[in-house]
Amino acid sequence: MNQKAKVFWFTGLSGSGKSTIAIALEKELFAKGFHCYLLDGDNIRTGLCNNLGFSAEDRKENIRRISETSKLFVDAGVICINAFVSPTIEIRQMAREIIGDENFVEVFINTPLEVCEARDVKGLYKKARAGEIKNFTGLDAPYEAPIDPQIEIKTVEQTIEQACQLIIKTID
Ligand code: ADX
Repeated sequence: MNQKAKVFWFTGLSGSGKSTIAIALEKELFAKGFHCYLLDGDNIRTGLCNNLGFSAEDRKENIRRISETSKLFVDAGVICINAFVSPTIEIRQMAREIIGDENFVEVFINTPLEVCEARDVKGLYKKARAGEIKNFTGLDAPYEAPIDPQIEIKTVEQTIEQACQLIIKTID
């Protein structure tokens, strides 16, 4: 097996399905013998970035640290699957520059806000609507969709398996 290390950078609203698809992708890649590692809020915001909140400045620092970390994984030959809201074009451009254009694959998990809010898996939209959480992405903080993502997943139309196949077929 000839592995080309890169970063699959998932962006999308909270509750869009980033982590769900990322976990399924990690399993499939692992089964195919690829070395891969999943970075998401569960292992990043609890440790490396546990001193950061959700102001624009903190989100930028969050993404900067994640990008530098992913770059080390790529250097080590590991495929990185990153699942972060990463809400602005500027923030993702920074990630692309740190990681390197040739190793950065932008994956837009495109789920409409209404659908994310109806799912409300973590109950955060409800809290944000009640004013208990400020600067919530998609409500009172911006989300800028990618203009020309390499991969776009519409979770309303595609299954998790179809999403994984779309991504896997870009691995050469
Ligand atoms: S990012 O904007 O810095 O990329 P990140 O992906 O690490 O965000 O974290 C987003 C997750 O944190 C959301 O899925 C949600 O569970 C939680 N969260 C808590 N507060 C907020 C907020 N104000 N805006 C967005 N997500 C929040």
